[in-house]
Amino acid sequence: MKITVIGTGYVGLVSGTCMAEVGNDVLCLDVDPAKIQLLEDGGIPIFEPGLQEMVRRNVAAGRLHFTTDVEKAAHFGTVQFIAVGTPPDEDGSADMKYVTAAARNIGKYMTDYKVVVDKSTVPVGTADAVRAAIAEELHKRGVDTPYSVVSNPEFLKEGAAVEDFMKPDRIIVGCDDEQAALNMRALYAPFQRNHDRLILMDIRSAELTKYAANAMLATRISFMNELANLAEKLGADIESVRKGIGSDPRIGYDFLYAGAGYGGSCFPKDVKALIKTAADDAGLELKVLTAVEVANDAQKHVLGRKIKARFGDDLSGKHFALWGLAFKANTDDMREATSREVIKDLLAAGATVTAYDPEAMPAAQHCFPNEPGLSYGANQTDTLEHADALVIVTEWKEFRSPNFATLKAALKNPVIFDGRNMYDAKLVRAMGFEYLAIGR
Ligand SMILES: NC(=O)c1ccc[n+]([C@@H]2O[C@H](COP(=O)([O-])OP(=O)(O)OC[C@H]3O[C@@H](n4cnc5c(N)ncnc54)[C@H](O)[C@@H]3O)[C@@H](O)[C@H]2O)c1
Repeated sequence: MKITVIGTGYVGLVSGTCMAEVGNDVLCLDVDPAKIQLLEDGGIPIFEPGLQEMVRRNVAAGRLHFTTDVEKAAHFGTVQFIAVGTPPDEDGSADMKYVTAAARNIGKYMTDYKVVVDKSTVPVGTADAVRAAIAEELHKRGVDTPYSVVSNPEFLKEGAAVEDFMKPDRIIVGCDDEQAALNMRALYAPFQRNHDRLILMDIRSAELTKYAANAMLATRISFMNELANLAEKLGADIESVRKGIGSDPRIGYDFLYAGAGYGGSCFPKDVKALIKTAADDAGLELKVLTAVEVANDAQKHVLGRKIKARFGDDLSGKHFALWGLAFKANTDDMREATSREVIKDLLAAGATVTAYDPEAMPAAQHCFPNEPGLSYGANQTDTLEHADALVIVTEWKEFRSPNFATLKAALKNPVIFDGRNMYDAKLVRAMGFEYLAIGR
């Protein structure tokens, strides 16, 4: 199949590469010439395990191409995936300007039948808007080329994106015509050889399914974070509570970890956008989700609060080692990362910070350009020099089993603030650390 992917970011690059991997001819378009140049030079703009090798393999096989040429991209694929960003607008709603621009570009140049697939996370009703934008462009040209619009939200997780795309738990396809449904079935057949995982539904339900999934996951996290804060006050350990409730198959163990708040490019913006859609388009107040967001915003400052409770509100002259900047492990994504709030809290109180992250330090430098109070370590041990305490914000594997003796010797005070509950609290305390984690 000939496929165009519009938007070569986390979702577009992973989807495009995986579709090339199974034999399709894929052209990835982006408006960012630097990104396309880097890809054409054999580089890769994001860190995602397994992706670089797969990109190289498919470029070498002649199945994966990159371009900034909008017209060429519109002509290329029978299937046109829209995978551009949908960042939050100032009022919290999803900003649709990139999706609309992508749709218009298709309409401006297409000359034969296209299946236009919304892969970006978009509010209910977007497929109608995409259909209208294309129709308008065709009308301006005085042509009546046929096309279908499909909703196919993406569920990949950064850090495991290639694996998720190659072996999806489910493929949601919202579609209202036969021809497009056949195309989508054919396209996804190689990714579900074991059993059919494609769930076909109407377009609006497909659009809502993506928001519902992220909203549910965010709700579990905020719920556990609130219980963790309660557990601390009551002298309980949230980790024991997690195991206790996770064993109930109706609840399950996944996504029940208490921590320093969720971040990333999806949960915060999708929760906001769903609240906004409900209010504006349906006159409904989503009370549970509103609380989820409020709880998460507060949780991102829980480490800052604990640090001040231990060292005082004025942190002038204090220095902290910080492990983990990315919003979660196995990615370099700093969008809405909790580390940003922790660093801001510490710097605002007068402290200095030396941070280390295996992948996200370049992205962090963009978030905090020329910040005199923030420096970066060459490795995790390097950050500990002159540090009053260690603060852990991201759950990278390499932080799981540090040399605690070295850690204790290097820190001015044997104090660990653990925003991801990485360690066995009893063990770490028995080694003489003051261990301030979440809900323990
Ligand atoms: N990142 C994730 O883990 C994830 C997972 C599932 C769904 N999503 C959704 O997928 C969408 C994309 O997310 P992302 O993280 O890949 O974003 P991203 O910011 O990494 O990538 C978007 C890309 O689109 C490009 N772009 C913008 N307008 C364009 C246009 N008119 N033509 C061509 N390219 C254009 C940008 O330059 C950018 O490279 C969002 O709606 C997001 O919510 C993201």
